Amino acid sequence: MKLTTERLELRPLKESDLPQMQRYATRPKFYRYNPIEEQTPESVAVFLQKELEKQRHDGRHVLALEPKEVGFIVGTVRIEVRDQNHRHGDLGYALDSEYQGRGYMTEAVQRLIRFGFEELQLHRIWATCNIDNAPSWRLMERAGMTREGLLRDDKFLRGHWRSSYLYAILASDKEL
Ligand SMILES: CC(C)(COP(=O)(O)OP(=O)(O)OC[C@H]1O[C@@H](n2cnc3c(N)ncnc32)[C@H](O)[C@@H]1OP(=O)(O)O)[C@@H](O)C(=O)NCCC(=O)NCCS
Repeated sequence: MKLTTERLELRPLKESDLPQMQRYATRPKFYRYNPIEEQTPESVAVFLQKELEKQRHDGRHVLALEPKEVGFIVGTVRIEVRDQNHRHGDLGYALDSEYQGRGYMTEAVQRLIRFGFEELQLHRIWATCNIDNAPSWRLMERAGMTREGLLRDDKFLRGHWRSSYLYAILASDKEL
């Protein structure tokens, strides 16, 4: 599965993405808000291998974000059907800090949302982020998502409880 936008290709992950992913994903600022352990080249390799194995699973799409002008992976996005009956799914994203501040992820998330409504037939797409992760919730607002609430202490992050904001967008929210 591949999605394109004006500046981006969102395409399946491949084994040759590993060196780039190891370069950016091991920086503490890349994973500081995620409830995962400190990332090492080895843990990034395990992550990529697991994602490559899961790639055929219906309803879960993890894609590499590759700007056309860059030509290699600088981040990943995920959209996943969480409940088929109620037609809701969630999304996630992470971008190499060297490529932040250019609007790449807003463009990717907007495309992912359109894919979720049009192709996956979702009615509701949600995501959460650490309340201290302002770049993340600002991005969700740019992409048209609405803050629905505060999830108190919902994540245990390297020894501390952290609260999250819940954001969502409905198929009926706007003309996409
Ligand atoms: C969350 C994250 C993707 C946000 O990155 P980002 O670069 O701020 O997001 P975008 O790529 O959409 O770029 C938006 C920024 O570029 C600016 N920008 C420049 N050109 C732009 C354009 N053409 N369109 C939109 N924004 C543009 C925006 O003003 C904004 O900057 P601001 O927040 O200072 O106003 C990034 O911080 C990240 O991956 N962090 C690490 C992992 C993480 O926390 N993931 C989320 C877990 S919930």
